[in-house]
Amino acid sequence: MNISTKSKKLFVGFNWKMNPNTLPEAKTLFHVYNNLNLNVNLNFLPVVFLPGIYINPIQEINSSKINVGSQDISDKQSGAFTGQISGQMLSGADVKYTLINHSETNRDQKLDFETISNKFIQALQNEITPILCISFDKQETAKLDLTKQLQNIFTSGLIKLIQSKNTVFYIALEPVLNIGSGKALECSEIDDYLGVIQNCMSKLELNKTENYMTLYGGSVNAANILEIGNCDLVDGFLLGGASIDPDQINQIFNLLK
Ligand code: PGA
Repeated sequence: MNISTKSKKLFVGFNWKMNPNTLPEAKTLFHVYNNLNLNVNLNFLPVVFLPGIYINPIQEINSSKINVGSQDISDKQSGAFTGQISGQMLSGADVKYTLINHSETNRDQKLDFETISNKFIQALQNEITPILCISFDKQETAKLDLTKQLQNIFTSGLIKLIQSKNTVFYIALEPVLNIGSGKALECSEIDDYLGVIQNCMSKLELNKTENYMTLYGGSVNAANILEIGNCDLVDGFLLGGASIDPDQINQIFNLLK
C-alpha cells in the first residue's frame, strides 16, 4: 500500500510532549531525525514539536534543517505573563509551527475559546503555522462538540486575518480516548469526523486545501500509518508515543519517504 494518491505532501507532526527528561537524551533522540532527514528528498513534511526549553539547543544541532515546532504559544504579545512563551520568541528561535489547544494542554489549563483564538492570532502574526487541535471525549456528543469548538474559536476577526494572510493552517482531530491507548479510530470514523469539521469550516467560509488541511492524532504508529494516511480526508498525523521511539521513527520515515 502507498499513499501516492494524495495530492499534497502528508504532514507528520512528532510531538515529544514532556519528554525526554534530560538535554543529552533529547539531543540523542533528535539525531535519529537528523540522520533520517539528511539523506533524502522526503515525500512528506516532518515537524518535531519540542518542549520549549529544548528548542534553542536542538536548533543548534539541527544539521538536517528539519522543521521544529512548539507545543504551545502564548495568547499575549509580551509582558507580565509568567511561564509563557510568545510568538516573537518562538519565531526568533526559527520555529515555523505551533500546536494550539492540544487536548492535554486544554485538560491541564482549561483554555477558553477567546484564549485559543488569540493564540491562533499570535501565531499568524509571527509567521508561525498553527496546528489547531480539536478534541472530544464522548462519541455520543462528538459531532456537536467539534462544531461548537470551531464556531467559537473562528471568530469573524480571526477569519478575516486568515484570509488576509493567505496561509494554510492545520486542524487536528484528537479523540481523547484514543490518545496513548494503542488503538486508533477506524478510517470510516476519522473521515466521518473530519467531514463534520469540513462542513462546519465551509459555513465559516474557510475551505479545505485552500485555507487549511486536516490531521488525525491518536495512537498512530508504524503499523497503522499507511492505512490512516489513505483515509479520504486525512492530510497528515500527529504522533505522540511513536515520536520518542527510535525504532518507530525509523520505520515511519521509511514507510512514508
Ligand atoms: P499518541 O498521542 O500518538 O501517543 O496517541 C497523539 C497525540 O497526543 O496527538
